[in-house]
Amino acid sequence: MKPVKVGICGLGTVGSGTVNVLTRNATEISARAGCEIIITQIGARRDNPNCNTSAFNVTRDIFEVVTNPEIDIVVELIGGTTIAKDLVLQAIANGKHVVTANKALIAEFGNEIFTAAKEAGVTVAFEAAVAGGIPVIKSIKEGLAANKIQWLAGIINGTGNFILTEMRDKGRAFDDVLREAQALGYAEADPTFDVEGIDAAHKLVILASIAFGMPLQFDKVFTEGITKITAEDVSYAQELGYRIKHLGIARKVGDAVELRVHPTLIPKERLIANVDGVMNAVMVKGDAVGPTMYYGPGAGAEPTASAVIADIVDLARTLTADPEHRVPHLGFQPNALNNFEVLPISEVQTSYYIRLNALDKPGVLSTITQILSDAGVSIEALIQKEQPESIETSPIILLTNRAVEKDLMRAVEKIQNLSSVVGEVFQIRMESLGK
Ligand code: HSE
Repeated sequence: MKPVKVGICGLGTVGSGTVNVLTRNATEISARAGCEIIITQIGARRDNPNCNTSAFNVTRDIFEVVTNPEIDIVVELIGGTTIAKDLVLQAIANGKHVVTANKALIAEFGNEIFTAAKEAGVTVAFEAAVAGGIPVIKSIKEGLAANKIQWLAGIINGTGNFILTEMRDKGRAFDDVLREAQALGYAEADPTFDVEGIDAAHKLVILASIAFGMPLQFDKVFTEGITKITAEDVSYAQELGYRIKHLGIARKVGDAVELRVHPTLIPKERLIANVDGVMNAVMVKGDAVGPTMYYGPGAGAEPTASAVIADIVDLARTLTADPEHRVPHLGFQPNALNNFEVLPISEVQTSYYIRLNALDKPGVLSTITQILSDAGVSIEALIQKEQPESIETSPIILLTNRAVEKDLMRAVEKIQNLSSVVGEVFQIRMESLGK
């Protein structure tokens, strides 16, 4: 087979990793692809000291890459949703296949991009957009093709998981760990995307679309970040047998789906509860296979390059295949996608951890439990922390059974309004991830 020629746009963390791995492992990669893979051009506004490009044709104009008639596959690694979108759409219009690691672009504009790609008879591959080096997109689209997917839950932001782990294990301050994640190239250009859950929401909507066969609906994802989690919550959760992880959760409920990203208590014996540092893990429950889990590094130069290059190899193998015979962009044939309703968070059913501070006097606890019981929320566990006599209030931590969020929130509002309750009543959702 004749060599496949790629053009790489962007020479940041992932771009430099891709050039380095393609060069270092050229023999193995060609042996797998069945042809040589040549970097024909690199488009980058500036050099990267982590990558020697002296042997390559480098241009400062990334759009030169998408118009270069030699190039078969454009690899978009510039990030963002403005220039990157123009670049990808131009590449498609010029009949080029595209590989991208850009989760924001796929989550927000994937429907438009896939339609353009189908019309042009080209493929847009995006394995690196979700969970870094873990081949989870391919696993769901191809490996689990026999299944009705019932739910998936993942730690899909390496930076957030790194921060939570360092805070728990070493008592480090939030900002200090975030700075380290930035220096290591894990964090987004705007790190609020990591800590407020937007990056995880981008990835979740992609996973949900390929799992359930639905168009991408990024604006419907409920998103809550990790900035309100305190060291006390981490320690109370631990005492009750749980760990707090920032999860992306998608669940099929009849003809609707839940799409939510939020801190979550999970039983500490679950494998996923023990996924620490920058590692990611995605659990996927299929009706035939049962629960499965995919684990690996979720960010970083070479792990992400690994996924980018896997897509290049896949494309190189299918370049001569009829477009109808390629794996569809969202795993399902485009005319078989369903516009499932995305449930508002108020209708979601889950269990809850509730933390509050109340005056240490008779009757307070029974009033609180009565409010919950009146709302149809039953209590699974309760601890009241002993305080020195000089302190009038004591923390109360409750774990509830499953309840509809709007019922739980009505009860929380009533508890919040009690004169015996001091400060904010704080709640974190809980999932068993067992069945
Ligand atoms: N900022 C992302 C993360 C990079 O920390 O997971 C990989 O998508």
